[in-house]
Amino acid sequence: MKKLCFSHLLLFSFIFILQLFAVVSTTCHVDDEAGLLGFKSGINADPSGMLSSWKPGTDCCSWAGITCSGNRVTSLSLYGQLDKPNSFLSGEISPSLSKLKFVWGIYLQNLRNLSGPFPGLLFGLPALNYVYIENNKLSGQLPASIGNLTRLSALSLAGNRFTGRIPSSISYLTGLTQLKLGQNRLHGLIPYGIRQLKNLTFLSLERNRLFGSIPDFFQSFPDLRILRLSHNKFTGKIPASIAALAPKLAYLELGHNALKGQIPDFLGNFKALDTLDLSANGFSGVVPASFRNLTKIFNLDLSYNHLVDPFPEMNVKGIESLDLSYNNFHLKAIPKWVTSSRIIYSLKLSKCGIKMSLEDWKPSETYFYDYIDFSENEISGSAIGLLNSTDYLVGFWASGNRLRFKLEDLRIVKTLKHLDLSRNLVYGKVPEAVSGLERLNVSYNHLCGQLPVTKFPKSAFLGNDCLCGSPLAICKV
Ligand SMILES: *[C@@H]1O[C@H](CO)[C@@H](O)[C@H](O)[C@H]1NC(C)=O
Ligand SMILES: *[C@@H]1O[C@H](CO)[C@@H](O)[C@H](O)[C@H]1NC(C)=O
Ligand SMILES: *[C@@H]1O[C@H](CO)[C@@H](O)[C@H](O)[C@H]1NC(C)=O
Ligand SMILES: *[C@@H]1O[C@H](CO)[C@@H](O)[C@H](O)[C@H]1NC(C)=O
Ligand SMILES: *[C@@H]1O[C@H](CO)[C@@H](O)[C@H](O)[C@H]1NC(C)=O
Ligand SMILES: *[C@@H]1O[C@H](CO)[C@@H](O)[C@H](O)[C@H]1NC(C)=O
Repeated sequence: MKKLCFSHLLLFSFIFILQLFAVVSTTCHVDDEAGLLGFKSGINADPSGMLSSWKPGTDCCSWAGITCSGNRVTSLSLYGQLDKPNSFLSGEISPSLSKLKFVWGIYLQNLRNLSGPFPGLLFGLPALNYVYIENNKLSGQLPASIGNLTRLSALSLAGNRFTGRIPSSISYLTGLTQLKLGQNRLHGLIPYGIRQLKNLTFLSLERNRLFGSIPDFFQSFPDLRILRLSHNKFTGKIPASIAALAPKLAYLELGHNALKGQIPDFLGNFKALDTLDLSANGFSGVVPASFRNLTKIFNLDLSYNHLVDPFPEMNVKGIESLDLSYNNFHLKAIPKWVTSSRIIYSLKLSKCGIKMSLEDWKPSETYFYDYIDFSENEISGSAIGLLNSTDYLVGFWASGNRLRFKLEDLRIVKTLKHLDLSRNLVYGKVPEAVSGLERLNVSYNHLCGQLPVTKFPKSAFLGNDCLCGSPLAICKV
């Protein structure tokens, strides 16, 4: 009897120790494990094995993408890699994630194939602060109840397929520093109530179907650094209150809308501005002289507007990308502040009234050049020197100029994909080296001789003196 008691005691203490051990070693709370396994069972394709470490009975705090504090899951972060075709998840976001009562961050980014409606489970997560559900295929309308997510500091639903209007209740999310709804199919006006979101540093609504005028409410956002409204259908002028953003705004993107009027002088006061995109609108008049003061501008795109001379002589230390194409400029020469930039990678000056010899252009640094577009100007001379010095060029467009050189002497670097020399005075033969390009156009020049084997269509070679061979007529022997 005594012996039995003793063995019982041993057994009990053994069980007690086991339990103690279990409590110490299993850091993951059962609700969190169940919630995450529920999420996993809603996924019907995971070809890259993103969730392969998510196994029942193992510590969910050690699973890929999970962080814990104590035994509770605090964040779920799954990222697809855009350069890997297999790196995606298909399926819907399971409501069982609402068991993660201590989660403060949900990051489901670039998973490409997550579908279903706006995830209502977000309403059941009392600690939630950060939501980034980006580049997936969520669809349907954003619910009016979105205004209940008042704890949120950041909300991004960018790159999905949401439709309908932006609910006006979004104005209750006053804790937001980031609101990103770009690249969806949202339509309607920008709700005026967004002015309540006074702590915004990042507002992006680009690539939707929003229309109406851009609300004149920007004095409400003293901390705004990034504003992206491009690729919508906004009309009217740049609102005057944007002037209030001068101290901090670094990034202003209003391109591809239907905005009109003059570019306001006050933009020249934007001390921190590094990127300005006003392309493809109906802006007219001159570029304000105050632009001389944009000393930090790196990326400037004013292409496809109705802007006229004179273009201000900029004071910028180094421009990285510049596009002034298709306005009514007559620049005559490539501006000095462009030629002197040692960091420039993209220069687009199509139809800018440039009349010069390419041989007279001596850029300070050509190492970073990826794209050069000089189409529709009156540029003469040879392109051989320029293409000899741009080692990593990807695209060179110069159609509709007076370039005159022997095509076989042109160096075609390995990186080059696009070459358009159509409607110039180029002579000689088409060298075999062009066959590695993705796109070629040498039509309407003075080329002659047999074509090398390429995949380019007839229209890439038409209008020359005596080119022959496929896709043109066979050569006469
Ligand atoms: C993405 O999901 C859709 C619908 O769920 C499915 O038809 C499609 O095959 C999936 N795509 C991939 C690449 O798995
Ligand atoms: C919060 O949600 C409830 C129920 O869905 C809804 O009636 C209410 O209008 C919402 N509040 C806000 C501010 O969106
Ligand atoms: C806005 O930011 C300030 C300063 O960081 C903070 O004190 C305030 O609580 C924030 N407002 C909201 C509504 O979160
Ligand atoms: C540039 O800014 C200075 C002071 O910040 C101002 O005096 C000057 O007029 C501005 N230049 C132009 C061309 O607007
Ligand atoms: C091309 O560059 C090389 C080396 O920089 C130089 O030796 C050569 O003369 C150049 N050729 C032409 C046609 O400019
Ligand atoms: C080549 O350029 C000509 C004239 O600029 C144009 O008509 C033709 O469509 C172009 N072809 C290709 C393949 O780009």
